[in-house]
Amino acid sequence: MSEPLREPSESNPLAGAREWEEFLQERYPRPREKSSFRDYGSNVRPAVREFYRLNHRYQTLEFVRGKETEYLAKNHRAMGIWEAMEFLDTLVDDSDPDTELTQIEHLMQAAEAIRADGHPRWFILVGLIHDLGKILCLFGEPQWAVVGDTFPVGCRYSDHVVFHEFFRDNPDWNVSEYQTECGIYALGCGLDRVHMSWGHDEYLYHVVKEYLPGEALAMIRYHSFYAAHREGAYTHLMNPEDQRRMEWVRKFNPYDLYSKGHEPPDVRGLRPYYERLIAEFFPAKIAW
Ligand SMILES: [Fe+2]
Repeated sequence: MSEPLREPSESNPLAGAREWEEFLQERYPRPREKSSFRDYGSNVRPAVREFYRLNHRYQTLEFVRGKETEYLAKNHRAMGIWEAMEFLDTLVDDSDPDTELTQIEHLMQAAEAIRADGHPRWFILVGLIHDLGKILCLFGEPQWAVVGDTFPVGCRYSDHVVFHEFFRDNPDWNVSEYQTECGIYALGCGLDRVHMSWGHDEYLYHVVKEYLPGEALAMIRYHSFYAAHREGAYTHLMNPEDQRRMEWVRKFNPYDLYSKGHEPPDVRGLRPYYERLIAEFFPAKIAW
């Protein structure tokens, strides 16, 4: 079992989830911008470093299986998508006090950028909903079990996972069965059989999986799987379908990283458009 953390502040070192997202932008700047990517180790903020230390220490296979049991029954709430957006909006994020955009505004910015580029309607919808799994924070989950780069558990950690060195403190590091290249999985078995570290991506995937096309689900489920979609790792666990869908995850990533600017979208004016889009794919209430 994981050793308990002592203080709530110890389990939540970040000012908010956006502090992690800012770190992603530093690691993966827009192609035109100067990259300091390989330097992040020394420059990274202590809170971000501490956040990854906790994440890599506590995300064991046993922990992930426990969260799957707890959340995949989806008996926490019944809510519509817009209602879930409003619920997420009650989450206070102190990471960017300068912009102070609400969670709904951030989601809508991503969706609007996708819409402006003429992508399919389900793609726009992914922009709108992809971070709704962060309501896990409101269910009392610590930051390290909600956000952060995701990675497979139950097999060797790729050194393409950021802060790989922190995995040495994970109890699974000493379980030899989990430390072969494929661990408990078979070569090319497909990511659907792989337990990913627990967080907002995996949770939302299970909440919406009956309602959206496979490409949309891949974008939701793997958008924080940077070791795979940005670094090219873990192809040995993928099947050809995963490889194809990873292209969609790559298409989505710039909208996730770079579309969240300082100008708030007109939420009131845009709401009817998005309510219609939601109703095209989702019933009035879904199980969370
Ligand atoms: Fe996200």
